[in-house]
Amino acid sequence: GKRIAMMTSGGDSPGMNGAIRAVIRTAIERGCEAYCIYEGYEGLVQGGNLIRKMGWSDVRGWLSEGGTLIGTARCMAFYERPGRLQAAKNMVLNGIDALVICGGDGSLTGADKFRAEWPGLIEELVQKKELTAQQIAPYKHLNIVGLVGSIDNDMSGTDATIGCFSALARICEMVDYIEATASSHSRAFVIEVMGRHCGWLALMAGVACGADFVFIPEKPRADDWQQEMCKVIAEHRKIGKRKTIVLIAEGAHDRHGNKISAEQIKVLLSDPTKCGLSLDTRITTLGHVQRGGTAVAYDRYLSTLQGVEAVNAILDATPETPTPFIAINENKITRKPLVQAVIDTKEVAKAIDAQDYDRAMKLRDTEFSD
Ligand code: F6P
Repeated sequence: GKRIAMMTSGGDSPGMNGAIRAVIRTAIERGCEAYCIYEGYEGLVQGGNLIRKMGWSDVRGWLSEGGTLIGTARCMAFYERPGRLQAAKNMVLNGIDALVICGGDGSLTGADKFRAEWPGLIEELVQKKELTAQQIAPYKHLNIVGLVGSIDNDMSGTDATIGCFSALARICEMVDYIEATASSHSRAFVIEVMGRHCGWLALMAGVACGADFVFIPEKPRADDWQQEMCKVIAEHRKIGKRKTIVLIAEGAHDRHGNKISAEQIKVLLSDPTKCGLSLDTRITTLGHVQRGGTAVAYDRYLSTLQGVEAVNAILDATPETPTPFIAINENKITRKPLVQAVIDTKEVAKAIDAQDYDRAMKLRDTEFSD
């Protein structure tokens, strides 16, 4: 059997522990040895006790735990070749010939690069006399499979990333809490949610909570955005709404690339000299409550099914197979080429999101008010 190692990398997301549990147990069940690499790529570079063999019961109870129990990091050393050489050496010394990585597109692209440099990396280690030709002989091929763990839902080619529905549920719960106090005082709230490059969380929360206005990075605002927002909000107030909720993703900006901030919006809503509104306005930045906490049922089930499929993909892989990642499309767990999805994420996804935005926001009160 193979020796399969599991690792989490980049920002944690709810469901990562479910993925680890599924990979470890499926590997064991399929007659392989299972390992965990602790602290993300840092653990692969440092080796030692950061690479640990795992048994069936080592992951007992992990399904309902938040975060990642094997640690994660944004590791700089791995981005340099000496770091990757050290990582390759630790792989060979531990006899690991397959890796399952759960992380965002950056972490998964790093993994694909590592594989592309194989077996050059280990051959170089032989030249440098850090390993012998005999030692590297069984490790000519490296198998890597990606699982997308990210609260942002920012990977093209899959309907959902592991963690996004937990974060979305958390945001909606928080917005509900805020709405109760907002309508008690007839106040406005500007709520900042996560998402530096991807507005999925803000947009879906906007739909799910019926927010008055939403700012996302995929829809850079035209020069008259202040008037546009104030007009919508004034209309909502006129038809009797006692609360105003504006959701803003961290990465929101105008069409010149200038950041749109919660503070700026607060001034517009509260200072009558700006666009005639004088709402008592507060800002709430939700922050890392969105990322922590336990996974919702969907993320537990998604991470479990995808973890099983990741091991299947490892065992099916040939040296010619392009590095896959495990996706979900129309409720089916699928395998897709990783590199193409990363390219599409950067190129295509943005355009699609902007269209969705317009469709989704048509459901606000104003459209039904006449
Ligand atoms: O990618 C996940 C994410 O939570 C983003 O939504 C957010 O912009 C970023 O990570 C925050 O990163 P950090 O926790 O390192 O500040």
